[in-house]
Amino acid sequence: MSILSTNSPIGFFDSGVGGLTVLDKVKKLLPNENYIFIGDTKHVPYGDKTKEQLLEYSKNILDYFQERSCKAVVMACNTTSSVIYNDIKDKYGFKLYPVVQSVAKVLSELDIQRLGIFATKATINSNSYNKEIAKYNDKIKVFGQYCSQWVNIVENNLTDKDESIQIIKSDLDRMLENTPDKIVLGCTHYPYLLPVLAKFENKDKFIDPAIYLAEYIYKDLKENNLINQSTDDKFEEFYSTSNPEKFKNSGKMFYDIKGKVELINL
Ligand code: DGL
Repeated sequence: MSILSTNSPIGFFDSGVGGLTVLDKVKKLLPNENYIFIGDTKHVPYGDKTKEQLLEYSKNILDYFQERSCKAVVMACNTTSSVIYNDIKDKYGFKLYPVVQSVAKVLSELDIQRLGIFATKATINSNSYNKEIAKYNDKIKVFGQYCSQWVNIVENNLTDKDESIQIIKSDLDRMLENTPDKIVLGCTHYPYLLPVLAKFENKDKFIDPAIYLAEYIYKDLKENNLINQSTDDKFEEFYSTSNPEKFKNSGKMFYDIKGKVELINL
């Protein structure tokens, strides 16, 4: 099967369960696709890793997607999109969709002056959102802020704990000092915290970039005649690099995972 045939699968990867929020949005627009999702839970959090580490983890996963003849791979993770996408973008035969680069144009067209970005340490240090948005519009002032505890809160299902709510509120208060018009939830895990954030600020202030990413992928596959139109049996496969039971339990919050999550050694 040619790697760019319409019924080849779409690969997704992320450091953990957060990327399932992206899969959910993509699947709503592309219901006839086959999907393979890998959560690299052995190495979560990606946000604290070096570029060399992120290159190694991503290479193993992308090589696997190549072996599986994926027609497209969604780099759902903001951290890998920010830190290593430029190094690997020309190395594979599939279409590659990195979240930050794929949504920058839409963000640059928002009618705003000040944009906040909540993200991991690696994403913030890379300045990727500032750089990618400035390619289209250098008038928007971008304020990045690293939220050190948020991934841990989501991965371990601690969202309802008072301590977690206090941490989230305090990070939000710090961001609001910049008086942003909008705030991007620039990490796959963060949209899950929207109900908590919405207790303290109007939820319309927050942007989940996965919505724009899903639209971008839909449009690009359509332009390239790569959308699967066949309604034959579809498959969805889920893998995690450690503790698949934990992945399935936490993942249920984001996506209706049917069947088993398999352990994969990468
Ligand atoms: N999935 C990563 C992202 O979107 C964040 C989680 C992590 O640090 O592993 O940036």
